[in-house]
Amino acid sequence: MTMRHAPVSPKLPVLMHGADYNPDQWLHDPKVLEEDIRLMKLAGCNVMAIGIFSWAALEPTEGEFRFQWMDEVLERFQQNGIYAWLATPSGARPAWLSAKYPEVLRLEANRVRNLHGMRHNHCYTSPAYREKTAIINGKLAERYAHHPAVLGWHISNEFGGDCHCGLCQDAFRTWLKKKYGTLDALNMAWWTNFWAHTYTDWSQVESPAPHGENMVHGQNIDWRRFVTDQTIDFCKHEIDSVKSANPELPATTNMHMIEGLDYRKFSRVLDFVSWDAYPTWHKGNDDIELGASVAFYHDLYRSIMQKPFLLMESTPSLTNWQPVSKLKQPGMHRLSSLQSIAHGSDSVQYFQWRKSRGSSEKFHGAVVDHAGHEHTRVFKDVAELGQSLADISEVTGASTPAETAILFDWDNRWAVKDAQGPRNMGIHYEETVIKHHRALWEQGVPTDVIGSEDDFGPYKLIVAPMLYLCREETGRKLEQFVENGGTLVATYWSGVVDEHDLCHLGGFPGPLRKTLGIWAEEIEGLYDEDSNGLSMLADNELGITGRFEAHEICELIHAEQAEVLGTYTDSFYAGRPALTVNRLGRGKAYYMAARHKEDFLLAFYTSVVSQAGVARALESELPSGVTAALRTDGETDYVFLMNFSGEAKRVELDGRGYRDVETGQVAEAIVALPVNGITVLKRKANPAGTAS
Ligand code: GLA
Ligand code: ZN
Repeated sequence: MTMRHAPVSPKLPVLMHGADYNPDQWLHDPKVLEEDIRLMKLAGCNVMAIGIFSWAALEPTEGEFRFQWMDEVLERFQQNGIYAWLATPSGARPAWLSAKYPEVLRLEANRVRNLHGMRHNHCYTSPAYREKTAIINGKLAERYAHHPAVLGWHISNEFGGDCHCGLCQDAFRTWLKKKYGTLDALNMAWWTNFWAHTYTDWSQVESPAPHGENMVHGQNIDWRRFVTDQTIDFCKHEIDSVKSANPELPATTNMHMIEGLDYRKFSRVLDFVSWDAYPTWHKGNDDIELGASVAFYHDLYRSIMQKPFLLMESTPSLTNWQPVSKLKQPGMHRLSSLQSIAHGSDSVQYFQWRKSRGSSEKFHGAVVDHAGHEHTRVFKDVAELGQSLADISEVTGASTPAETAILFDWDNRWAVKDAQGPRNMGIHYEETVIKHHRALWEQGVPTDVIGSEDDFGPYKLIVAPMLYLCREETGRKLEQFVENGGTLVATYWSGVVDEHDLCHLGGFPGPLRKTLGIWAEEIEGLYDEDSNGLSMLADNELGITGRFEAHEICELIHAEQAEVLGTYTDSFYAGRPALTVNRLGRGKAYYMAARHKEDFLLAFYTSVVSQAGVARALESELPSGVTAALRTDGETDYVFLMNFSGEAKRVELDGRGYRDVETGQVAEAIVALPVNGITVLKRKANPAGTAS
């Protein structure tokens, strides 16, 4: 069975390696542009993202277009076997556009209009911005959509933020009318009788504001949903304006700001997902926590479209905008870059190719330094990686099959943070999801990160930490998943509100109560210095013994149908259920009533993974800080062994017969991984085409 996806672009069916390329900063010095090509080839780069912020260079005054420089760049690319993701330039406006059409400037939540400047700050509703974008995009498409060097479209840059202008307010009201039909329905859904917030005319409804309405939770969450839809609508407008010239060219947009946009919904309009990763490596003695967290995000972005994504940006050395900018230690460039491939990326790309001479990113890491030549540590790291990507290029298009999924919904994330209680000093939703994911990562369990509207069918194990916003429908789907033999893990603060952020009545966890077999009667937040404990009962089915700390959040629950596996140790909680399991149909559902630390999560998931029969990338013990990830085409499995521990480690393989993909040599039974080491192995896949 083939499990290989078509390459992102048929023109370049290999792992891609390259950078954001901004030749428009160097048009005054043609020698630089010539030298760039020599260096790109030397670095093993085969792709560049161009034109991302080129609007002023392409259309210096309204209606006057200059394409010659772009013609020449693409021509040089073509002659040298380099390909381009061609960007639409809407991420930053030329000054003439803001001056002539002030409506394109965003109004912040405080209702003050921005001045011209910066980037990523235009109104997505403005007809003028849409029109001007369509014109420049159309010109680019007309000229380059059939250019042999162009692979596809890089739409805008890192969409994000919201605009509160009159045009956006009108669009929000139209969106609400479509959703609710009547004001009565809206008032009920938003529970506006509280504090006499009832709306009596649609014109009274506005976006949340720091100096106005911001306490109506249903309104806040609908505004975020609207902003997502409006941004996607703008993105689609851009895609339509370039695709008419050549529908075959794929389009993506680089994602980055996870907070404000429900990126999963972008799958409606994109051909593939790409994202920009900037981890702050080397904070502390090891990179385990960060390695696990980056793995989560790779899994999240890959799962949006369930196929290979592109790492559109990363830094070849350091960033210049984080609190502390550390260099990548030897090996880390290779490890962090190939980590993205291990989790399903088919590219490693950087911001940016050549360091800018001036302005705010002149000290941001780039492939070519201000020194201007290839004799730098960073350039060598990049060139070596280019060679590695070429050596492992057979991975291109291979899938990342997962039998485990973490449930992570953007609207749940928004609602949890807006909830007000039980722990406003730090509810730590995303951190918690990442901790649960980490316990799977540490065992090398391939994991998808999905939303509640996705299909649960492919999974044996679903982990849904803090599923606070839980629709009735999600409750039904999870119930069915368990009845059909799946294993569900849920935690405290689940099944609390519905899609309107209205509390489920009749006892939490609302639509999950039957599946979990418990009633969560009360919840409390703990101060940092408080704690409770979980004591595992003798002979519990997980085979875990001992006492584990509970911190930050504890619930008092009743085991209704569920069996108790562990109880609280302290205070008036002592003896009350803290960990339960409920059997339903052919499956089971665990409930963690309190927040626990890494030691418990690792013990818990080690047992759950083996009981649920979930396959790991490598069926042998992984030393702490070493993980394994898997890609497969159904015939060959690719196993990536990665060492984030900060120490040299040795990994014993599981005897399935491995070869090192880069060297082609048969692998020894024990693989030595240096600090920041990564080894890519291959083995014959099991006939079913799954990892198990
Ligand atoms: C973002 C942007 C880039 C650049 C990098 C720097 O991801 O998309 O244009 O500013 O950050 O890290
Ligand atoms: Zn607006």
